[in-house]
Amino acid sequence: MSIPLSISWSEGQLVILDQQKLPHEIEYVTLETLEDVFDAIFTLKVRGAPAIGIAAAYGLALSAVRHETEDLETFFHLVQKDAEYLGSSRPTAVNLVWALQRLASVVRNAGSVDAAKQLLAEEAVRIHEEDEASCRQIGAYGLELLEGKKRVMTICNAGSIATAKYGTALAPFHLGAEIGREFEVYACETRPVFQGSRLTVWELQQSGVNVTLITDSMAAHTIEAKEVEAIIVGADRIAANGDTANKIGTLNLAILANAYNIPFYVAAPSSTFDVSIGSGAEIPIEERKPEEITHFAGEPVAPLGTKVFNPAFDVAPARLITAIITEKGIIKPEYEKNIPAALGAYTGK
Ligand code: MRU
Repeated sequence: MSIPLSISWSEGQLVILDQQKLPHEIEYVTLETLEDVFDAIFTLKVRGAPAIGIAAAYGLALSAVRHETEDLETFFHLVQKDAEYLGSSRPTAVNLVWALQRLASVVRNAGSVDAAKQLLAEEAVRIHEEDEASCRQIGAYGLELLEGKKRVMTICNAGSIATAKYGTALAPFHLGAEIGREFEVYACETRPVFQGSRLTVWELQQSGVNVTLITDSMAAHTIEAKEVEAIIVGADRIAANGDTANKIGTLNLAILANAYNIPFYVAAPSSTFDVSIGSGAEIPIEERKPEEITHFAGEPVAPLGTKVFNPAFDVAPARLITAIITEKGIIKPEYEKNIPAALGAYTGK
């Protein structure tokens, strides 16, 4: 049993696990150019908020090595241009621009282009390592919060493969498996891209966690029939007031948790907070291509030309969130006051 990983960097080589091929094919792809990294993020080969931030950081470092100028100012502008390009690959997860801006800013501290290239790669590694440590800590706090609870529901994949390791929402289950604490996880399949069935179920099986797959529309019945005791989800962006964007269907679960009076937890590292925005209304929601809904495995499942609305994320309002689990601690309502207090000097993107 082992916790799967999705991103590796060794001697300037970026390799990712192709998450589009899971669970039937375990294929690793080497990303060589900025365009490769853009494409991998855009097509969900690498996905999950922290993972796309990490991949983009490495992408920027990869591309920077190829810029031939010796002039630091010119180099900075080239790096910024690359960062803008990569940052446009997906709009909702703030970790992407957070990582890119963090990298671009190290160029400002470099004395030469060669030094800047080195610093960029080092900073990308640091982001990768920090995310693993954050996720482990989130798992530990999550275990504390879930003390005495066994049956937990989740949606999408906020797991190890969506981060550096362990995941956010799935971190308590991975850590629990290591110390012999047993959970029964109910994974919503997560239409239309099936991150729940393809990724979460696979990932939890890899680390020996007891997981049961349901379709998204079975959530309410399952909460009743299986006496689900808590819901835990990841996040793509958390506004200053605690409103949380996450995979489409998360809002349904937040409403259900409230209706059934069970806790609704969000798990995310501080890189997922965007305190520059006051509420979830300002979070850009990605809309993806209609074929994700009108087709299944390449076959049409709707009349040709059907009008489609395909938002990839929704926003759970802060009032429905019992607590937000971060590496810096467990944040409880009132979020407007408690988020800045918990994140300290951290000011988001
Ligand atoms: O479209 P995806 O698969 O990138 O969406 C991912 C999610 O919504 C995750 O829950 C979120 O990014 C957190 S991953 C730790």
